[in-house]
Parts: sequence; structure tokens; C-alpha cells
Amino acid sequence: MAHPGQKDPFRVRAKIEGYPARSVYKLKEIQDKFKLIRPGQRIIDLGCHPGSWLRFCSQTVGPEGQVLGIDLKNPTIPLSPNTFFLQADLISVPDETVKEWAGQVDLVLSDLSPKTSGIKWLDHQRSLDLNLRALELVFLILKKEGAVVLKIFEGEGAKNFLKKMNGRFKQVQVHKPRSSRRESSEFYLIGQGFKGK
Ligand SMILES: C[S@@+](CC[C@H](N)C(=O)[O-])C[C@H]1O[C@@H](n2cnc3c(N)ncnc32)[C@H](O)[C@@H]1O
Repeated sequence: MAHPGQKDPFRVRAKIEGYPARSVYKLKEIQDKFKLIRPGQRIIDLGCHPGSWLRFCSQTVGPEGQVLGIDLKNPTIPLSPNTFFLQADLISVPDETVKEWAGQVDLVLSDLSPKTSGIKWLDHQRSLDLNLRALELVFLILKKEGAVVLKIFEGEGAKNFLKKMNGRFKQVQVHKPRSSRRESSEFYLIGQGFKGK
């Protein structure tokens, strides 16, 4: 954690290592612990701008794998041949757009963050809305036994959301990365062993 006037060490490290955002270290922590990303996989990355997770996934799945990023905003990095981007609002994107991937995705990642207002309950509600839509898409496109990583902001709807996931995955775990900013209320839900439609 950086002190006022001090440079955030994760941001500095991201720049040196060629990632456009510090958030890559949250995914790396998740990967070290849960080993979800593997060569040859097909991954969807929801809320992928500026592209740190895209780059890390692209490197890890390798040339036999594929990564599709979706965001309102374009990535700021050049995309490798195994990486694709769809500019869209996740809330209104029709199911048909992703249907060709139905049942074929190994892992769905979501680092989606709403525009924050500073009002805790409102930001939680916006994050919940994004996650509810993300979960609808997950149920549509994820392979049986597939996995998800979903970022959510703390709040009273989180318990019910967790219940929704619990019924559809063999195991759901909560993870708070050390590289999350201390003031942030975000945490990640890791679902493994998707039970299918
Ligand atoms: C924290 S950033 C993601 C950072 C990314 N994981 C990385 O490492 O580069 C969150 C992203 O969620 C996106 N987002 C928020 N609401 C969205 C929506 N309704 N549809 C698509 N993307 C959305 C934002 O545009 C933003 O780029």
C-alpha cells in the first residue's frame, strides 16, 4: 500500500513488466492460489479494459488457447493473435452475441467495476447488477466443470448472490487479494466445477 506522495509499488511494477494496470497482480494472486488458467483454454474476460488480464491470460493460454475480452472501452494494448475484443455494454448485450460460445468456455473472468459514486450501498447495487448479468452469461457459455472469477463490492446483496452461485458450482470460495487497495470493498468469488445448465 502506497503512502500519500509515494508511488504505488504495484503500479510501478506493472509498468516495468508491460501491463497497463496494477489489477494484473490480483489475477496473478488468484492464479497462484487456484491455478484456474491453463494452456489451450478458452477464456472470456468481462470488463477487460485497459487489458492487463487480457495480456496475462493470452500469455498463459498460449497459441492453442483463445481469450475474448468484452468492455465498454477498447483495450489500450495491441492484441495477440489468440485474443479478441468485443466493445459492448454487458448489461444490454443480447444473449445471441455470445451464443456461438455456448457451453465451450473453460473460464469466465470478471473484473467489472461500475462507475463509483462514493455511496457504498449504491456502488454495491451497481456492482451486483453487473454480476447478476455476468452470471446469466456464465450459465449460458460455461462448459460443464468450468470455473468463474467474479469481482463484487461488499454489501447486503452479496450473500444472496453467493447462494445463487452455490447451487450451480461444486465449490465457491471468497478471495480478497493482498494487492487490492486497502480502502476498496471489493472481493472475488471463485466458483469451480460448474454443474451445467
Ligand atoms: C477495473 S476495470 C478492469 C481492469 C482489467 N481487469 C485489467 O486488468 O486491465 C473495470 C472495467 O469494467 C468495465 N465496465 C463497467 N461496466 C461495464 C458494462 N456495463 N459493460 C462492459 N464493461 C463494463 C469498465 O469499462 C472498466 O474498464
